Amino acid sequence: MSPESFDSEQQFRLIVEAAPNGMLLIDERGAIVMVNTSALHQFGYERDELLGQSVEMLIPGPFRSDHRQHRTEFMKVPQARSMGGQRELFGLRKDGSEFAVEIGLTPIQTAKGMGVVASIVDISERKRLEVQLRRAERLAELGTLASGMAHEIGTPMNVILGRAEYLLQRAADDGMKKGLTTIITQVERITKVMNQLLAFARRRTPERRAVDLAKIVEDSLDMFQERIAQCHITVDTTIESSLPFVHADQDQLIQVLINLVMNSLHAMPEGGRLSLGLAREGEYVRLEVADTGHGMPEETRAKVFDPFFTTKDFGKGTGLGLTVVKGIIEEHGGTITLESAVEKGTTFTIRLPIDSAQTAGASPSIRL
Ligand SMILES: Nc1ncnc2c1ncn2[C@@H]1O[C@H](COP(=O)(O)OP(=O)(O)OP(=O)(O)O)[C@@H](O)[C@H]1O
Ligand SMILES: [Mg+2]
Repeated sequence: MSPESFDSEQQFRLIVEAAPNGMLLIDERGAIVMVNTSALHQFGYERDELLGQSVEMLIPGPFRSDHRQHRTEFMKVPQARSMGGQRELFGLRKDGSEFAVEIGLTPIQTAKGMGVVASIVDISERKRLEVQLRRAERLAELGTLASGMAHEIGTPMNVILGRAEYLLQRAADDGMKKGLTTIITQVERITKVMNQLLAFARRRTPERRAVDLAKIVEDSLDMFQERIAQCHITVDTTIESSLPFVHADQDQLIQVLINLVMNSLHAMPEGGRLSLGLAREGEYVRLEVADTGHGMPEETRAKVFDPFFTTKDFGKGTGLGLTVVKGIIEEHGGTITLESAVEKGTTFTIRLPIDSAQTAGASPSIRL
């Protein structure tokens, strides 16, 4: 090799190595001749695991045979172009996972014959953002739709509910009573879904003032009294005395509690223990809602706050409950976290900033 060509090859290697994109040099038969560090990171290989190997090992199975054919055709009429046309392209990592890529191809004459430089951009992050954006747009549309529908559906539903309740009070026949009860339950279900959708969609400015979380916890539990007794659930409440107020929208916090308690009750169809705790933690009030229910595996835990994620049967859950909860808490400058173990139970922990006008310290005591 002449010093000149050595120089240019050396330069070529340096340029390839410095590129932020993954770059591969492939020979006429599809063997990898050169690979830069970015490509090694993208695909998760060491350099010597790739050099000399067929480029097809970086392509997911279903696309491999097509690729072989495209490669042969490319070599017949080599010219710079992007790969894939309108098709989506994927790379295959060493660990078997796939990622979306964009690939540019440039033919190159090497000392050993024709070759191709493939420049690879990992576009999985861009794809993820695109999906997120599409989802945000869909949710915004949903918000408009839900607000419009709430009135159209809510009003007749109230009328149906009112009439059914009226008739139920007067019905003497058991079959009739059963039918009316079914109507009432189903209407309540529709109303619930509508309310969840509305709460999720409604971007009304919260009306915040100093709120006593202890009162909200107690009121919310009252609403579930009957259900709790029916399901053989014991409740224990641990509330610090002289707990400072939080600066919050009362209705929204009630909704948070209803959603969390509902989820806990659903998770304990055979009974169990529901524990609610309130304590001061620095500049925050910490609220814990814990149950001894069926818990969640990791896959569920990762998605619980996603809109429309539900493990409940069709028609039983909207999958918006926790999305609403998280939205409300974060709007209040608070945080929500969870711990959960399958067959053991789940604890949601919420921290809400205390009302700045409050200076009261807390002397812990237990109220059962
Ligand atoms: N306390 C809990 N124990 C076990 N799993 C839970 C608990 N809370 C939530 N989950 C899981 O998280 C999922 C999402 O909860 P989320 O409240 O957002 O929706 P949902 O309860 O399914 O429907 P909706 O609240 O609209 O009735 C549930 O379907 C369930 O799988
Ligand atoms: Mg729920």
